[in-house]
Amino acid sequence: MSPKKAADEEHDDEEMDYEEFEGTEEETLEDSGGDDSSVSGIEVTDLPGVGPAIGKRLAESGYKNVEAIAVASPGELAAAGSIGETTATKIIKAAREMLDIGFETADLLLERRRTAGRISTGSKALDELFGGGIETQSITEMYGSFRSGKTQMAHQLCVNIQRLPEDGGLNAKAIYVDTEGTFRPERLVDMAEAYGMDSAKVLKNVVWARAYNSDHQILLCDQAMEMATEHNAKLLVVDSVTSHFRAEYTGRGTLAARQQKLNKHLHHLQRGAEINNMAVYITNQVMSRPDAFFGDPTAPVGGHVLAHVPQTRCYLRKSKGERRICRLVDSPNLPEGEAVFTVLKEGIRDV
Ligand SMILES: Nc1ncnc2c1ncn2[C@@H]1O[C@H](COP(=O)(O)OP(=O)(O)OP(=O)(O)O)[C@@H](O)[C@H]1O
Ligand SMILES: [Mg+2]
Repeated sequence: MSPKKAADEEHDDEEMDYEEFEGTEEETLEDSGGDDSSVSGIEVTDLPGVGPAIGKRLAESGYKNVEAIAVASPGELAAAGSIGETTATKIIKAAREMLDIGFETADLLLERRRTAGRISTGSKALDELFGGGIETQSITEMYGSFRSGKTQMAHQLCVNIQRLPEDGGLNAKAIYVDTEGTFRPERLVDMAEAYGMDSAKVLKNVVWARAYNSDHQILLCDQAMEMATEHNAKLLVVDSVTSHFRAEYTGRGTLAARQQKLNKHLHHLQRGAEINNMAVYITNQVMSRPDAFFGDPTAPVGGHVLAHVPQTRCYLRKSKGERRICRLVDSPNLPEGEAVFTVLKEGIRDV
């Protein structure tokens, strides 16, 4: 039995969290719409060559709208719909034509970027550093040493995203993929109560799954992207994105395979973030770099692959007492800079 299968079978109960999630939609965020229908209003079955049967198979594999099909690769779509690659290529081409995908003028892109939401971190200083908070439609990577606050920040975002836009939220839900077993619902309760929110409701709006190996992690993330729009989830946390890869691929000979798989995983996350207008928050450990004589002798795991995919990269480090420093290392539209914050029982706050 493959390790992936073993993990799936062994941890069937993890899937339950997702099912439970489905049932709670009405009682919680009533006014938060969201469905699978495409933004364009074009149905998958409007595409030439896609009848109800193929449409159903595609939907089951996550290709629920024309937008998802338009950005698929022929190989993936062929496998998902049990169709030939030639047919898949034709379908993708038709989807792209219908959606008018290709070059577009910068004003249209700016318009789409304006629909990106921002999630407050709980600290004004940090929000300012991020230009208003953690952004949807892209990946934000937080790397740093142990206890630097990466996981605490993940919890805080799961709470804050549920708040109203005027309070720094998106009135939406969160999905948490936990690879290290450090997700703590108690912390969500602490953080929710600090804002006077109903903690029972807050807990119901966060779904969690433990990922037991890298294949399982990829599978859960794909599942998360499939259910995101339907359930109005606008945040996906992967804490941490690299630990399984690091543990499974040891030794020099396996490095290329690891980087390739990680690269593909990150590109999937990026695509999902754009399609679902979703924020993807990933954490990463740092490893010591004994060869570094100058500067900080630590580097994020994953090396150059990780450096190119996440749009926003931040480095967290501990400072005096409970202070933490967040440095914005890389962003396509924000200046580099630093902000100081602290982690309290109530969550992430300004010093
Ligand atoms: N209830 C709490 N009250 C106050 N501070 C807390 C509380 N829970 C956690 N913390 C703070 O958060 C720190 C842990 O941070 P966190 O778990 O986010 O680290 P991390 O960067 O994810 O580390 P790792 O790399 O080990 O996963 C603790 O050391 C403590 O300072
Ligand atoms: Mg952690």
